[in-house]
Amino acid sequence: MQAVIGNWKQNPATSTDVTALLDALLDNIACDDALNPEHSNCQIMVAPSCIHLYQAADKLKNSPILCAAQDISAHSSTTGAFTGDCSATQIKDSGASFCILGHSERRQYHQESNAMLLNKMQHAMNKDLGVILCIGEKEDEHKDGQTLNILDDQLSVVQDFIQNNPEMTEALTKKLIIAYEPVWAIGTGKVPTVDEVTQIHAHIKQTLSGVDNRLADLSVLYGGSVNADNASEFAKSEMIDGALVGGASLKADSFLAIVRAFSRS
Ligand code: PGA
Repeated sequence: MQAVIGNWKQNPATSTDVTALLDALLDNIACDDALNPEHSNCQIMVAPSCIHLYQAADKLKNSPILCAAQDISAHSSTTGAFTGDCSATQIKDSGASFCILGHSERRQYHQESNAMLLNKMQHAMNKDLGVILCIGEKEDEHKDGQTLNILDDQLSVVQDFIQNNPEMTEALTKKLIIAYEPVWAIGTGKVPTVDEVTQIHAHIKQTLSGVDNRLADLSVLYGGSVNADNASEFAKSEMIDGALVGGASLKADSFLAIVRAFSRS
């Protein structure tokens, strides 16, 4: 499956702006056959901030666009005294069908470890929430030639999940998307070459099928400074199954240009 996912991060500032952005997306999709889900093989998804999730999911109900959360609480098993957290149950109840886990900004600002991400993945899967697991190396790791080692370490969460929950492997094959996002490419305008991403995605796919061959067909998206101008280059690679888009997802025109690039490939 191809997928293009807009990670809105802490944007937009107001619910009025959320409505305007969603209206623009829906209006454009309604009058563009290439984006019509009956003709396109590209799943479109947006991940608003938690405060706008219910509003967005409600507006996108019965539309071809799915809604994702940007995170879920590590304390998702019960309701209770976890100030500031939103549980997997609450996220699911808001209308989201996926959650992003392990984005580099959460690893950096919230010290998210593999152990914490494994825990969150278990909560998500228990509530039938799909997971977009972000992995990626930092700039110094990239320069030191450590990229594949870092990715293998971050992918060990998937292996641990399967070891702990073998009965959920089948469900995971339908509910897990991997997003490779080199940290040094996020929001910087710097991008790896398509060949580099292709090789890295091949490694990710090989690693996952080594964990369990049922994971061989998972979608692996690229993220980091994807925009309307470079998307079609990335989309040419058979190894790149779509994009996780930050900045360029905040305008309907640029986001849908990226969707079109991956719908054609
Ligand atoms: P960017 O962000 O497209 O603004 O680089 C991507 C992301 O952080 O998911």
